[in-house]
Amino acid sequence: MSNILVAGGAGYIGSRLVPALLRSGHKVSVVDLLWFGNYLSIPVIQRDLFDLREDDLRGYDCLIFLAGMSNDPMADCNPSKNFVSNAALPAYLAFIARSAAVKRFIYASSCSIYGYTNQICNEDSPTLCRSPYGMSKLQGEQGVLQAHDDKFSVIALRQGTVCGYSPRMRFDLIMNTMFKTAYLHDEVIVNNSMIWRPICDIEDSVSAFEKAIRVKHSVSGAFNVSSTNLTVGEVGRQVKEMMEKAMGRKITLMINNAEEVRNYRVSTQKAETVLGFRPNYCASRLLQGILDHRDEFGDFENDQFYNIRIFKKYEHNSCQY
Ligand SMILES: NC(=O)c1ccc[n+]([C@@H]2O[C@H](COP(=O)([O-])OP(=O)(O)OC[C@H]3O[C@@H](n4cnc5c(N)ncnc54)[C@H](O)[C@@H]3O)[C@@H](O)[C@H]2O)c1
Repeated sequence: MSNILVAGGAGYIGSRLVPALLRSGHKVSVVDLLWFGNYLSIPVIQRDLFDLREDDLRGYDCLIFLAGMSNDPMADCNPSKNFVSNAALPAYLAFIARSAAVKRFIYASSCSIYGYTNQICNEDSPTLCRSPYGMSKLQGEQGVLQAHDDKFSVIALRQGTVCGYSPRMRFDLIMNTMFKTAYLHDEVIVNNSMIWRPICDIEDSVSAFEKAIRVKHSVSGAFNVSSTNLTVGEVGRQVKEMMEKAMGRKITLMINNAEEVRNYRVSTQKAETVLGFRPNYCASRLLQGILDHRDEFGDFENDQFYNIRIFKKYEHNSCQY
């Protein structure tokens, strides 16, 4: 079992990953600024990751990076802070982790680096992103991979849009947002039905990190991680169908024609072959998982469920939105 530091581990993915790692018997520490609160059962070191030094990382076997700005609106809100948090920060942490003899660094990358393409992207496909978020995630990935050597394995998990229940819930992610409007307003809004998105069940995301921790030490590199590729129109249809069944009410599908800068499908063949990743997508299970926890959420419109709203509060007047 490993001694693992999860940087940004109190967020949406971390709040599912950390309990899973503890259940698997790993020793886990979390450093997080707690922007969105704390739903973990272990004490969190509330500290800015920029303030960590080599000595702070000694003794860990593995560092998992889940921090930074985690969506386009946050990145657009303060692009300069975004590039520092998503590109410079992971590169810096990989640099000091290697010096501190940490053996493995796992970086939460994103399929948004592929930008707008009609191809099914594998890890060698061109990266056509032009948005601050996509560009910064690509830079972060390049920075951390640069640090790899025989003694320091670096794995970048390029996740699709992660969806499903987490104790630190987000309703600003495609399927979770559709769940919310179906549940509250009997309506699912599809911004552009033709656009493709890799959808990643949060359980598949967690299992990819667990596989990456365990894979043999000689493995480094980038891996697509997703459960399935769907058009946004199909995601909307699946949410409508499942929620109608679960709630016994008619749900309206609203189709808009919004412009989109992201459109991509991905192949997860490399993660399946090298990491042993086994995606397991089931829309009704994913949505039922959120439905089962609906009483926990209280007011679904609470700012805590929407990263950009909390971020704007922190940013005060420096935000351009
Ligand atoms: N959620 C997705 O759909 C998705 C998809 C692809 C990639 N990712 C990547 O996965 C990672 C985790 O995503 P998430 O949805 O859990 O994000 P999140 O916003 O819920 O959590 C990020 C956490 O990082 C912490 N943090 C940020 N900067 C910090 C700093 N300087 N020092 C200490 N703590 C800091 C925040 O307090 C927060 O708890 C992110 O890097 C994101 O870019 C997410």
